[in-house]
Amino acid sequence: MIRLKTAQDIVLMREAGRILARVLQELSASVRAGLRTKDLDDQAETALARAGARPAFKGYRGYPSALCVSINEEVVHGIPSNRRIREGDIVSLDLGAELEGCFADAATSVAVGRVIPRARQLLEVGKSALAAGIAKAQVGLHLGDISAAIQQEIERNGFSVVRDFVGHGIGRQLHEELQIPNFGESGTGVLLQEGMTLAIEPMANMGSFQVAIKNDGWTVVTQDKCPSVHFEHTILITGHSPEILTEW
Ligand code: MF3
Ligand code: CO
Repeated sequence: MIRLKTAQDIVLMREAGRILARVLQELSASVRAGLRTKDLDDQAETALARAGARPAFKGYRGYPSALCVSINEEVVHGIPSNRRIREGDIVSLDLGAELEGCFADAATSVAVGRVIPRARQLLEVGKSALAAGIAKAQVGLHLGDISAAIQQEIERNGFSVVRDFVGHGIGRQLHEELQIPNFGESGTGVLLQEGMTLAIEPMANMGSFQVAIKNDGWTVVTQDKCPSVHFEHTILITGHSPEILTEW
């Protein structure tokens, strides 16, 4: 059963989302060559704590960190380490915040210095695919409308959609019922209702959609080693347009 959010849930998710958005914006602005990925994780943890929120990923199914940092061919779930960010990298940051039992989840990808034009385009398309999906998060439309809009935006630009990882319902848990694939048929799937909160998170690859998991048990990489980007927002379906709870 999909639990629709109460007014109190929404107040808390809004606040969790506001905190998360601010922290993620700060993190993405501080990404630069020479920084270790664990420096970003420390920064995330400190900033969340200062705002009174808990890092939602830390300890989730044994995940060791607050932040996921995925570079170039890494798609998602990269574990922060001593690895240093370099000029030309594409860095994806994924962070979750918990506030009084309510969750928000968001991700963004940024280029470090100069990258090839096709990589710049991949970043733009990842972002516009998320926007296209969110635009379909409307009462009376179907889940498949979100999925199809994302897939179309990515594929019409010659990129590919990761199949093996999907978006999800969110609220009193990080992952709630309702999987949100980034590919599908419009007009299919559950009817969207007011009070649903969704984490919509397209992953777009420059090459093939096929991915693998590294030996650390977490890091998802593209099989062809081509770069990937990841954009995510937590949104609320309302009686009018969708409310982006992690907007910045
Ligand atoms: N946004 C991702 C997701 O929803 C990251 C969470 S996985 C974690 O799956 F294990 F790192 F927490
Ligand atoms: Co998520």
